Amino acid sequence: MAVFWSFWFMLTLLETFKFPVSSWKPATTPPLPILPLPSASQLKWQQREVIMFMHFGVNTFTDSEWGTGHEDPAIFNPTALNANQWVDTAIKAGISLMILTAKHHDGFCLWPSKYTDHSVISSPWRDGKGDVVREFVDAAKVRGVDIGLYLSPWDRHEKRYGKEISYNEYYLGQLQELLKRYGSVQEIWFDGAKGSDAPNMSYYFSDWFSMVKELQGSINIFSDAGLDVRWVGNEKGYAGNTCWSTINRTSLTIGSSAESYLNQGDPRGTDWLPPECDVSIRTGWFWHKSQKPKPLSHLLNIYYKSVGRNCVLLLNVPPNTTGLISETDVQRLGEFHKAINTIFSVNYAEGCTIKASSQRGSMSDEFGPEKVIDEDHLWSYWAPEDNSNHEHWIELDGKEKILKFNVVRIQEAIGLGQRIKHHKVYADGKLIASGTTIGYKRLHRLDDGVIYAQRVRIVIKESRGLPLISSIGLHFDPFRHPKGT
Ligand SMILES: *[C@@H]1O[C@H](CO)[C@@H](O)[C@H](O)[C@H]1NC(C)=O
Ligand SMILES: *[C@@H]1O[C@H](CO)[C@@H](O)[C@H](O)[C@H]1NC(C)=O
Ligand SMILES: *[C@@H]1O[C@H](CO)[C@@H](O)[C@H](O)[C@H]1NC(C)=O
Repeated sequence: MAVFWSFWFMLTLLETFKFPVSSWKPATTPPLPILPLPSASQLKWQQREVIMFMHFGVNTFTDSEWGTGHEDPAIFNPTALNANQWVDTAIKAGISLMILTAKHHDGFCLWPSKYTDHSVISSPWRDGKGDVVREFVDAAKVRGVDIGLYLSPWDRHEKRYGKEISYNEYYLGQLQELLKRYGSVQEIWFDGAKGSDAPNMSYYFSDWFSMVKELQGSINIFSDAGLDVRWVGNEKGYAGNTCWSTINRTSLTIGSSAESYLNQGDPRGTDWLPPECDVSIRTGWFWHKSQKPKPLSHLLNIYYKSVGRNCVLLLNVPPNTTGLISETDVQRLGEFHKAINTIFSVNYAEGCTIKASSQRGSMSDEFGPEKVIDEDHLWSYWAPEDNSNHEHWIELDGKEKILKFNVVRIQEAIGLGQRIKHHKVYADGKLIASGTTIGYKRLHRLDDGVIYAQRVRIVIKESRGLPLISSIGLHFDPFRHPKGT
C-alpha cells in the first residue's frame, strides 16, 4: 500500500509541476555478440594497422639471411648505432609498435644474456658493454612507441640445441630475461623453424606461452597458432581474398600448418586469431648493400592486400651495418605513409544522405545508418532490425554532388564478432565490386577506373547473424589512376 501511495503522490507532484515525464526514453540495447570475440589486446593490435619489424644481428655484417651459428661475435660492430633514429623513422610513418629480433637462428643475442657469451658482450660494440634491446626499448618508450621482441627458437650456435630438456630450459631462461628486464612488451614473435640436424627437437610451446602470459599481462603472442595472432601463411604480405579472424586453433601446428587455412581462416572457427602479414621492405629480412627498398606501388599493393583484407601489416625495415636505417628506406617509408594519408584523409561518403533497408530500434539514435561516417570505427555502427527477412543494404546518396572515387572502404563492428560472408557494391545500380569477408577493414581498389556516381549501395548478401557496419569510406587513390580517368 505504501508503494502505491508514494507512486500516486509522485504522479500528482509531476502533474502539479508539469515535469516533462515523457522526454526520457530508454536507449535501444545493442545486439548480442556472435562468438568468438577479440580480446582487448587483440582489438588494440588490430587498430595499429601497420607494425614495424627490424631484423638486425650478425647477418647484417655477413651479408646473409640465415647465419650458421659460427660467426665471430667480433664482426658485430654497428659504429653509429642510434635507436632514436629507428624510432623516429617509425613515428614519421605513423607506426606505434616496433618488433626487434633479439635473437635470430644464428643464436647471437642482441642483449647481454647471462646464459651465453655469444652476444653483444663478446663484440667490440660499446666495448662489450652495450645492449641493443635496452637502447631500442629506451628510445621507443621515451617517444611513446610500444615494443615487441622476436626470440628465435631455432639456435644454430647453442650446444644444448637438440637436447630437449636442457635447450627448453635455456630458451625459457632467455625468455624470462627479455620479459622481466625491459618493462612492458606488447608482442612476442615465435616461429617453428628447426635444424635439419635436429628434426626431433621439441619446443615446449605450452610452457613458453604460459610463461609469457604470466610475465606480460597485455602481450599478444604471434605464432602459426597464436595464442593471439596467427601467421598469414606466406611472407609476401598478402592475406586471402576471404579472410576470417576466426579459425580452429586445434587444427594448427606451429611450423607446419596448411597455408590456405592460415591465409583465409575459418567462418566456423572457434578461436579469435587474426592474421599478421609479415613482409620486408627489401628482398631480404636483413640489410644487404646490394638490395633496395620496394617501389611505392608495390608497398601500396601490399597494403591493400593486408590491411585492406582484415589484417595487420608487419613491415620489416632492417638497420644497416652502421646501425641506422638507410636513408632510402626512411624515404620510402615516408612516401608510403604520405600516400596512405593522401588516399584516406578525404572521404566522399561524408556529406552524403544515408539510408538503409532497416534500422535497429526504428525510433532510436543508436544504430542509424549515419553511424558509418562518424569517427568511431569500432563501437558506433549501423545495425539492421532483428528478424528482418529482406536483404540488408545501406545506401549513400550524394544528392546534387557527384561522388568521385576508386576505392571503397567497409568496416565491421568486430567488437561483436566477425559476421559478413558475402557482399556487393553498386554505383547508380551498376555492380562495381563484390567480395566475401569484410572484418575490421575491407578495401576494394577498383580496377575499372574512377567511378563517378550519385548513389552507392552496399548489399549484404550473407552473414552470420545481423551484419553490423561501423564505417564506410569512398576514397580517391591518385597512385592507382594517376590521370584521374
Ligand atoms: C626422429 O624421430 C624419428 C621417429 O621417432 C626417428 O625415426 C628418427 O631416427 C629421429 N631422428 C633423429 C635425428 O633423432
Ligand atoms: C572448426 O570447428 C567447428 C566447431 O567445432 C567445426 O564446425 C568446423 O567444421 C571446424 N573447421 C574445420 C575446418 O575443421
Ligand atoms: C646506413 O644508413 C645511414 C643513414 O642513412 C647512412 O648514413 C650510412 O651511410 C648507412 N650505412 C651503410 C653502410 O650504408
